[in-house]
Amino acid sequence: MRVLVSGGAGYIGSHTVVQLVAAGHEVVVVDDFGNAKPAVMGRLDALTGTHIPVQAFDLTDKDKTERLFATTQIDAVIHFAGLKAVGESVQIPLDYYENNLESTFSLLRAMRRHGCRTLVFSSSATVYGDRAPVPCREDYEPLNASSPYGRTKVIIEQVLRDVAHTDPSLRIAILRYFNPVGAHVSGTIGEDPQGVPNNLMPFIAQVAVGRRASLQVFGDDYPTADGTCERDYIHVEDLAAGHVAALAKMATSDATVSTWNLGTGTGTSVLQVISAFEQAAGRPIPYQVVARRAGDLPAFWADPTRAHEELGWRATRTIEEMCADTWRWQSANPHGYEDLPDRDDAG
Ligand code: UD1
Repeated sequence: MRVLVSGGAGYIGSHTVVQLVAAGHEVVVVDDFGNAKPAVMGRLDALTGTHIPVQAFDLTDKDKTERLFATTQIDAVIHFAGLKAVGESVQIPLDYYENNLESTFSLLRAMRRHGCRTLVFSSSATVYGDRAPVPCREDYEPLNASSPYGRTKVIIEQVLRDVAHTDPSLRIAILRYFNPVGAHVSGTIGEDPQGVPNNLMPFIAQVAVGRRASLQVFGDDYPTADGTCERDYIHVEDLAAGHVAALAKMATSDATVSTWNLGTGTGTSVLQVISAFEQAAGRPIPYQVVARRAGDLPAFWADPTRAHEELGWRATRTIEEMCADTWRWQSANPHGYEDLPDRDDAG
């Protein structure tokens, strides 16, 4: 299959590109490089042993999206592209609604015009909101995300269900990610956030490599075993495998829309992540406990049963592997992709 990967130069997108090629798919990347570095494309070529074509534009540009579909036969789309910082979405909500919704509309229209019927959409566990049970199943309602970012995901999910209702030949997978961490085992691609990382694992990695002095742990008075929040960290390679499994499933499935949680089904506390990272890196991670961060849930993890039963997929990598692989990437690339030359046609 020829698969268009939007946001294919980003963190989860790039890891998925490698696995798609390994599974025998042909990949075309579209990325506006707003939050990804062009240098990733050279690394993807090296990892896949092939040249991954990339088009550098923003999918909200309907004409360019149309031209891409008019000139390239696309069999399926995996749509990762989008703005994704929860805190920023509170500051600039219109940008989030405009970008995340319009890029999806633009893709859906081009897909319809050109007979492309298979779509995998990157959703998030954040759609479940703060009243959901733990572990959480896909049929939990009402979806009640608490940030503009999360609400873009809830709205797009609903748009996809409405569109699927009009065309039974569509095959749409909604994948709800828990907390993606880790990196490709080669250490050549990984997460490279711009500015100060919002998320725990990249922050710890930057402390370990000496880019930041210490980590702030947001609260140790939660009703959990050690008082710090528990999350369902999932290795990005397991997550990428979930996308390949979803594509394979849709080729034979009768369902127009399917929703799958991609998580491990277990919670790990902030202090447990710090300790696992210290082991992996062989050095201490200095930290201070500070006040709780607004909006954080004490504990949240997936019920991944449906993905296991329907996709035959299961997350297999441990928190130790997640930390070891993050460290291999961060220690080999202390400044992420910054020091690498760009491939000529990217960015
Ligand atoms: C966040 C987003 C979620 C998004 C996910 C992507 C919020 C409220 N939610 O989830 O929508 O899908 O990232 O991975 O932002 N922590 C610290 N110190 C830090 C950073 C984090 O103690 O410097 C703690 C947090 O309090 C939390 C845990 O680490 O308990 C994980 O935080 P984070 O990596 O930001 O993920 P989530 O908040 O679960």
